[in-house]
Amino acid sequence: MAPSSALPDFDAFRLKRFLQSLNEDALLRQPEAALGDVAAILERSPRAVLIERPGGGDTPLCGNVAGSRERLAHAFGTTAAELPTEVIRRLRNKPEFIEVPPAQAPVREVVLEGSDCDLTRLPVHLQHGLDGAPYISASIDFVRDPDTGWTNVGVRRLMLRGRRVAGIDLVAPSDLRAIYLKQSGRGARVPIAFAVGSHPIDHIAATMRIPGDELGLLSSLRAAPLPVVRCLTNDLLVPADAEFIIEGYLDEAGHVEPEGPYGEFLGYYGVVKKNPLFHVTAITHRRDAIFQTATISGPNMAWTDTAQLNALRTEVMVWRALETAVREVKGVFAAPANGGMFNVRVALQQRVPGEARNAIAAVFGSLSNVKHVFVVDPDIDIFSDTQMDWALGTRFQADRDLVVQTGMRAMPLDPSLQGSRQGAKAGFDLTLPLLGPGESRPLEYRVPEAPRFQGRRFDSLEAALEDGPKYFEELMAATGSGDGREIVRWLEDMAAVRPLVRDDEGRYRFR
Ligand SMILES: Cc1cc2nc3c(=O)[nH]c(=O)nc-3n(C[C@H](O)[C@H](O)[C@H](O)COP(=O)(O)O)c2cc1C
Repeated sequence: MAPSSALPDFDAFRLKRFLQSLNEDALLRQPEAALGDVAAILERSPRAVLIERPGGGDTPLCGNVAGSRERLAHAFGTTAAELPTEVIRRLRNKPEFIEVPPAQAPVREVVLEGSDCDLTRLPVHLQHGLDGAPYISASIDFVRDPDTGWTNVGVRRLMLRGRRVAGIDLVAPSDLRAIYLKQSGRGARVPIAFAVGSHPIDHIAATMRIPGDELGLLSSLRAAPLPVVRCLTNDLLVPADAEFIIEGYLDEAGHVEPEGPYGEFLGYYGVVKKNPLFHVTAITHRRDAIFQTATISGPNMAWTDTAQLNALRTEVMVWRALETAVREVKGVFAAPANGGMFNVRVALQQRVPGEARNAIAAVFGSLSNVKHVFVVDPDIDIFSDTQMDWALGTRFQADRDLVVQTGMRAMPLDPSLQGSRQGAKAGFDLTLPLLGPGESRPLEYRVPEAPRFQGRRFDSLEAALEDGPKYFEELMAATGSGDGREIVRWLEDMAAVRPLVRDDEGRYRFR
């Protein structure tokens, strides 16, 4: 890629610009806070948080930026319900890059090397009471797979172990883990760079696992060319418009250093694990850079960055699998409170009997992390816990509508596995019996609502009943009645003159 002479708008996808676009319902601004207090402020805040002078320093710190569906939708310029389809639509965009000369890259305005590059000068805070040390958590990693030449992008936390060394968590199956095992097995280091301070779109791109060069995902999801700059101390290309880039390498020693404990994204602590080390070779940043932290765990899981990012990723992966399995997917929602991947809701317009079960099977296979799938008809609002509860209570029989699959690949962190590597999945078919052509739902499946009196007007109640059977509401509409009691009296009087009966649905008619 040759450096380009035409410079893009470096602020269009700048984190700072995104924060400026949030109103006070979405962003809590605080002038200062001790670093030790940052976690408690974030834990209490459903809003994103911006602390101007954390720990008395000059570098502002923001957190919880992606911790709500509405903020993610705002980042993509869409609605909360349309979010997964908007991401799927953008994934089809052809990626484009603009390589920026280092002198013009905003993230290279300040360059720190040697003893100047020091992780402990950054506003990195202790996130949970029992964490092993302060962690950098909103860190998007860029690594090139030497065998394919593709850039792998993910999000990996970094546990501070010193000024220029940090632990990285590479235990769960991931592409970076595979690259690292391959390279360290050959006795080679893995050059790596972390962007800290990124637009929510970049975070969504980083959490996607789609085969190919993942640097392109940032461009596709931005729906714009990605400005990239070559790192100072290695050959990687990274976003030129990030707030910070931390460059370095993973050493070749393997999974040998204790890392953790850490408050994990399932809402429990992860234990101390053996993990590789990251060594810093340079830190570069914008002159007025903002540092970023991601919320991971705690009592309000649904508000965390991780849960919201995971939820959207789950929805996108599930939706793509459903598109090939069934015809009319109306909505997919991964509830965030459990971490954003265990419980998935699908609204489906079935065309033929059994499609709900096909959908359940497709979701089971789409992501190892999904455990429970709830399929509903389109009349149920999948974003509403109360609607889902109603559907589960009134449309489900466990011996008929439950699908259980055992021995499937599972997420090792799930404590309910009690150490097993394989787990169970359950599908809940909450759909109503499918209607045949021309059939309508019997009364016992129809939802009571307040009368709307939208029936036809008639000159008299007698004329209305001559026309055919009528519900009481239709009799009120027939005469424009705003009361109804006079119709009860009329029915009583009329019955003495001309016999009235009621049909199976309770409509009045002349015998
Ligand atoms: C805020 C955040 C922090 C994360 N931290 C880690 C981590 O430390 N280790 C890890 O294996 N995955 C972590 N993940 C999940 C990975 O980033 C995600 O699975 C990614 O898709 C992996 O990419 P890869 O398979 O391309 O390497 C994190 C996700 C988020 C949103």
